[in-house]
Amino acid sequence: MSLTGVVEMLKNAEAGGYAVGAFNCNNMEIVQAIVAAAEAENSPVIMQASQGAIKYAGLEYIVAMAKLAAERTHVPVALHLDHGTSYEQAIQCIHAGFSSVMIDGSKLPLAENIKLTRRVLDVARAVGVSVEAELGNIGGTEDDITVSGRDALLTEPREAATFLHETGVDSLAVAIGTAHGQYQGIPELDFPRLQKIKSLVSIPIVLHGSSGVPDDAIRDAIRLGVRKVNIDTNIREAFTQAARKVLDANPKEIDPRKMLGPAREAAIEIIREKMRVFGSSGKA
Ligand code: G3H
Ligand code: 13P
Ligand code: ZN
Repeated sequence: MSLTGVVEMLKNAEAGGYAVGAFNCNNMEIVQAIVAAAEAENSPVIMQASQGAIKYAGLEYIVAMAKLAAERTHVPVALHLDHGTSYEQAIQCIHAGFSSVMIDGSKLPLAENIKLTRRVLDVARAVGVSVEAELGNIGGTEDDITVSGRDALLTEPREAATFLHETGVDSLAVAIGTAHGQYQGIPELDFPRLQKIKSLVSIPIVLHGSSGVPDDAIRDAIRLGVRKVNIDTNIREAFTQAARKVLDANPKEIDPRKMLGPAREAAIEIIREKMRVFGSSGKA
């Protein structure tokens, strides 16, 4: 199959009451792991490239690997730009072959975020590419945020309704208490906020910073309307741990394949586990 759009995937997820996993890819082994996991689970899958991934692997390499992986499998595979930083970059990715893009204007004032998202949508719509936007501040676990300061950063449900009305965007990433990276403790999600957002906003909701969120909390978020769940850190952990184990057992090992093979297997396993939690297994 060729790369699939995300709108169709998330529409099916909405109808079936599950979520599609969006897994960050940084190299060939992780691209292969994402697709191997999707095949093993017979699940649709989104592979996404962050700023860091594009810088590391190069845009053309990522597109070429994703296209080849999609062509070689029967399960639907989408290629999505994660946290796109500018109009120019989003258009560059659309041009290069991405089937979906995120334009992250969450650091901008609301009116500017709306304006930027609309500009990207104008082009994306014309070529059938879906667009995800972000409202609220998801941030990183390294950000030093007090509990009282947290509320101010979370997505305001009425603003989400205005944002959707003004843009008509395809999906929306919301800040409900998750953060990117490894958590110090156990994150607490603001479910009443999510419920309120979902009651005002009819499009699929995206959960970022989902590594380290307990499975039951993920399942609750999916029950309340989350349809795309982003995972990066848990793959990094599994991948690196497996590679480290090989080196610890044999410090003289010099063959990268001896490290990266087990790392790829470990990535497949964690991605399969996530797909089962998200309920996308068997939904390809
Ligand atoms: O959204 C954050 C992702 O984990 C990507 O991070 O830019 O280091 O690849 P990265
Ligand atoms: P984690 O690294 O916390 O899983 O977050 C991934 C993410 O949200 C990518 O956009
Ligand atoms: Zn993110």
